[in-house]
Amino acid sequence: MLYNIVTFGCQMNVHESEKIAGMLENLGYTQTNSKEDADIIVFNTCAIREGAEDRALGNIGNLKKMKRANPNKIIAVAGCMTQQKSVAEKLFKTFPFIDIVIGTHNLYDLPNLINKKLKEQKRSLENKVSGEIIENVPTVRTSGENAWVNIMYGCNNFCSYCIVPYVRGREMSRKKGDILNECKQIINSGKYKQITLLGQNVNSYIDPDNSEYNFANLLSDICKIDGNFNLTFMTSHPKDISDEVIDLISKENKILKELHLPVQSGSNKILKSMNRKYTREHYLDIVQKLKSKVPNIRLTTDIIVGFPGETEDDFDDTCSLIKEVKYDGIFAFMYSKRSGTVAEKMENQVPEDIKNYRVNKVLEIEKQIQNDKK
Ligand code: SAH
Ligand code: SF4
Ligand code: F3S
Repeated sequence: MLYNIVTFGCQMNVHESEKIAGMLENLGYTQTNSKEDADIIVFNTCAIREGAEDRALGNIGNLKKMKRANPNKIIAVAGCMTQQKSVAEKLFKTFPFIDIVIGTHNLYDLPNLINKKLKEQKRSLENKVSGEIIENVPTVRTSGENAWVNIMYGCNNFCSYCIVPYVRGREMSRKKGDILNECKQIINSGKYKQITLLGQNVNSYIDPDNSEYNFANLLSDICKIDGNFNLTFMTSHPKDISDEVIDLISKENKILKELHLPVQSGSNKILKSMNRKYTREHYLDIVQKLKSKVPNIRLTTDIIVGFPGETEDDFDDTCSLIKEVKYDGIFAFMYSKRSGTVAEKMENQVPEDIKNYRVNKVLEIEKQIQNDKK
């Protein structure tokens, strides 16, 4: 029996697909790159922007013919799209060839739902919200010498444009002991040279058993594990990154000299309306500190252009901030309205052609910065 997993979205989803693979291999399936040959296809979806959802829907729609040719093929849709109640129900109704629709909170129930399909020929839709962290999930790591390690799930920040808190639930940190054990196992296996810690906001990590034990403590403890490996992490919210963490990046040889620090906008008015809880000045102070303590640090960021109410002046503030920081890499996105978020209802939505112009402008500035650095 063969499985094929199609992953959309962020590293969190890439890692979750490794856990889906682990569960499927435990059931006796083996990986294949061919959707035609697969006995089960799992789509791990992303809901961050409309484009991501459309891509997933297009891919899923294309399976209709394949299912007709082989009615025994199981088709499952998981991930952030399916955690939205209305989207999950719509998927289940409009695509009768989908056998399993499963939300992010229920992923570990996938083997049960597969068995239900195999034994009783029953379709399932499951996306109840749960506040539980499941440990010891079998994992088939697929990112070469890098091993992803989740340190927390969910998000409490409610940036006004973002759907993640709605589809991933409230922030929950894993126990420090569980994280350290996983890291030790990874290093002792001898297969990996790098660990990347994952969370929507790693800097707000707190051990659930000890409120004094924070992200900096976790980083130093992981660095103490014997072995030759690099350590890095994502994502850092500028409002939470501490001086201790900056010092560790500078002092710990194992921590890579790189940081992804999403700024989203350079305009204080827009940052406030995005509910980001820092100002342009505060952000630039952090960058200053980072650059003085870690001279060759590789800084990358995310930018959203065309957030509701973004004027030409606000956009100029973003451009000037980018030029001041001189990032080593930028992910620039056109604002996409997400249902249920605060920004969805905001006035002064920006027309698509202006968003398009602005996103290209950001990429142009970025190219110029890279050329100047050469
Ligand atoms: N937790 C991370 C980011 C998760 S989403 C953080 O806070 O930095 C990754 C990126 O997608 C965000 O940084 C943002 O730039 C972008 N993004 C999120 N929601 C978006 C939306 N509605 N439209 C466009 N881009 C969005
Ligand atoms: Fe979304 Fe903001 Fe949470 Fe990042 S911190 S996942 S952008 S709500
Ligand atoms: Fe997408 Fe979910 Fe990640 S919405 S960006 S896959 S947390």
